Amino acid sequence: MITKDGQNYIMNTYKRYPITLKNGKGCNVYDHEGNEYLDMISGIACCPLGHSNEAIKKAIMESADGFTNISNLFYTEQQVKLAKKLVEVSGMEKCFFGNSGTEANEAALKLAIANTKKHEFIACKNAFHGRTFGSLSATWEKKYRTKFKPLVSKFKFVEYGNTNAIENTISDKTAAVIIEPIQGEAGIIVPPEDYLKEVQEICDKKGVLLIIDEVQTGNGRTGTYFEYLSHSIKPDIVTTAKGLANGLPMGVAIAKGIDFEPGDHASTFGGNSFVSSVALTTIETIFKENLMENAKNIGEYIKNEIQMLNKKSIKDIRGKGLMIGIELRKNAKEKVAEFISKKILISVVHEKTIRLLPPLIINKGEVENFISSFNEVVK
Ligand SMILES: Cc1ncc(COP(=O)(O)O)c(C=O)c1O
Repeated sequence: MITKDGQNYIMNTYKRYPITLKNGKGCNVYDHEGNEYLDMISGIACCPLGHSNEAIKKAIMESADGFTNISNLFYTEQQVKLAKKLVEVSGMEKCFFGNSGTEANEAALKLAIANTKKHEFIACKNAFHGRTFGSLSATWEKKYRTKFKPLVSKFKFVEYGNTNAIENTISDKTAAVIIEPIQGEAGIIVPPEDYLKEVQEICDKKGVLLIIDEVQTGNGRTGTYFEYLSHSIKPDIVTTAKGLANGLPMGVAIAKGIDFEPGDHASTFGGNSFVSSVALTTIETIFKENLMENAKNIGEYIKNEIQMLNKKSIKDIRGKGLMIGIELRKNAKEKVAEFISKKILISVVHEKTIRLLPPLIINKGEVENFISSFNEVVK
C-alpha cells in the first residue's frame, strides 16, 4: 500500500528499493513487518551517529521548546555557535548556511563569482556536485545534464587526479577550481596522495580560488572531520551537507578571505536554530565519541576482511574511512535485492561499485554480520 501510494503520489526521481522503512536504532532500521536490516548506507552518508541517537533526540526536543525558525533577520545562539564550531574545525573563517549539498555548492560558485568578477570554472570529469543549475553545470554525467541545457556559467572538465590538466586549463577568466577530495558518485575514486596539495599550489600560483566539495566526504566519514584536513591544505571555500546535522537538511559553504555583500545570496530556512542545534550536537558527539578514529579502524577492517575473501568477481576495493567502494567485474545492481534478502542495506554507484557508507558508530560485530552476508551474495 505505501509503495503503491508512493508510486502514485511521489515524482519519478529515485529508483526506490522494494521495502518501506518505519524506524531505526543505531545501525539498524526496521520495516513495517518488524524485520531488522543492517544499514550500510545511513541515508547516503547522512547519519554518522546512526538512528534515534539519544543526544540528537535531546537536541530535537530542546529545540521544539524554543522555535523552529525565526528567519535570518536575527542572529540565534544556535546558528552562531554552530558557525563558530565549523570555523574552528575547518580552519576557515565564515559560514553560509543552506539546506542541502547542491545549495552549499551554489553558494560557493556565487561566492567565487562575486569575489573574482570572473565566470569560468574548472571541474573534474565524473564529478558530482548537485542538481540545481549551478552545481549541475559542475556535474559531469551527460545523463544528468543533457536534457537541461543550456546550463549556467562556463565549466571546463579535466581528468580527475591530473594536476597538469588543471594547470593547462586555467585561464585569466577562471574564477575557481571545484573538486571532491574523493569522488563519491563516480564510484569512490581516491586521487593520488599529493593531488590536492598540488592543486592548491597551482591555484595559489595562478590566483584562482579552490572550492573543495566535502558534501559526501565530510563530517568525519573519511577519518578526519573534513578529508582536506588530512592533506594539510587550506582551500578558499569548503562545502558540506549530508552528515552535517545527522540527517536533517542542512548544507554549508565555509570560506576564508572572501564574503558576500548583503543581497548577494540568502536562504529562508538556512541555518535555522532547530537544525543548527542538531548539527552542533552531531559535531560534538563525533569528536567526543572518537568516531573518526572508529571510521578509520573499522574502514580498514572492512577492506581487509573483503580482501581476504579473495573473490575473483571483485575488481577493486578502495576508499578511506567509512567511505568504501567495492568494484565488481560485472554490473552490481542486482546485488541490492540479494543483500536486502539477507537484511542488509547497501547502495550501488556507477553500475559496478557496491558503495558502503555506514554510520560512523558501527562496530566489529555488525561488520562481521555484513561480511558473512557479503561472502554469500558476492560469489
Ligand atoms: C560530492 C557531492 N556534492 C553535492 C551533492 C549534492 O547534495 P544534495 O543531494 O544534498 O543536494 C552530493 C550528493 O550526493 C555529493 O555527493
